Amino acid sequence: MKPSSGAAQAGGAAAAGQGATQADGAAVRSVVITGASRGLGAALAEALAGPGVALHLLGRDAAALEAVAARCRARGAAVWLAAVDVTDAAAMAAVLRDWDQARPVGLAIANAGVSAGTGPDGAPEGHDAALRQVRVNLEGALNLVEPLLPGMLSRRQGQLLLVGSMMGFRGLPDVPAYAASKAGVWAYGEALRAAHRAAGLRVTVAAPGFFASAMSARVRGARAGGEVSAEAMAARLLRAVARGRGRVVSPWWLGAGLRALALLPPGLGDRLARLVRFRVEPGG
Ligand SMILES: NC(=O)c1ccc[n+]([C@@H]2O[C@H](COP(=O)([O-])OP(=O)(O)OC[C@H]3O[C@@H](n4cnc5c(N)ncnc54)[C@H](OP(=O)(O)O)[C@@H]3O)[C@@H](O)[C@H]2O)c1
Repeated sequence: MKPSSGAAQAGGAAAAGQGATQADGAAVRSVVITGASRGLGAALAEALAGPGVALHLLGRDAAALEAVAARCRARGAAVWLAAVDVTDAAAMAAVLRDWDQARPVGLAIANAGVSAGTGPDGAPEGHDAALRQVRVNLEGALNLVEPLLPGMLSRRQGQLLLVGSMMGFRGLPDVPAYAASKAGVWAYGEALRAAHRAAGLRVTVAAPGFFASAMSARVRGARAGGEVSAEAMAARLLRAVARGRGRVVSPWWLGAGLRALALLPPGLGDRLARLVRFRVEPGG
């Protein structure tokens, strides 16, 4: 994949988080990405990869992470990997502490995610599946951000990109727990941005629509707003990070529609929400 204009912008984004130096004295841009073994996380890693960039990639699938790392190294980045489950708070904290000490992290991207949904007949998704989504999507984001936050604040320099979803704007009947987890990610990022702006922390919360990935391949039904490539979505998100935007909603009009739906009286909102139907096949 050749560097796109989005990738070029992304280099500037990561530069906001310079904290270490190379032997030649040039600044190292140090980035951590969760869920980097495929999909959007891999596309973000490759877009950010380049000389002077230290990439720290997290996921559970070590072989897939290594394949992404090889592509990033080919673009000139130095890459560190850890096969860690984002729900394992202690393991996350240990890895992040080591990485942050060695190469102070300037940009952390909470991207790891899973999805599920109601059964074919509308049966509830079940406690295990519901809880897993909240744990990976929301708790996983906390397990990335909280260990890094004190260092970023003390250095008065740091950037976060939290990947939510438009489905967090208004709970849709087919994905209750996924919507809940992503609403939590959005609210968490908005709060952090408001709380720590003066201390030099910049937070971008992202609400993507559909993009092509293993996750979206399990969606049966119409994709409202269409579907872009993971690379195109990565470029959009990184452009927003480079510009220091607090929010990125893509496509914006779909996000606006869902936000408007959330403002309607519940009965009317529910009736309209029931018109947006799809099914998420198990497997995420
Ligand atoms: N695809 C879409 O249309 C869409 C739309 C809006 C938002 N999003 C969000 O965008 C993000 C990326 O989604 P994607 O479509 O790229 O998904 P994907 O292709 O299924 O990739 C998910 C990534 O998350 C990692 N992951 C899952 N569970 C994990 C765990 N317990 N611990 C550590 N890593 C874990 C996976 O790595 P391992 O399997 O190696 O652990 C993988 O790298 C997610 O947060 C998703 O909710 C997706």
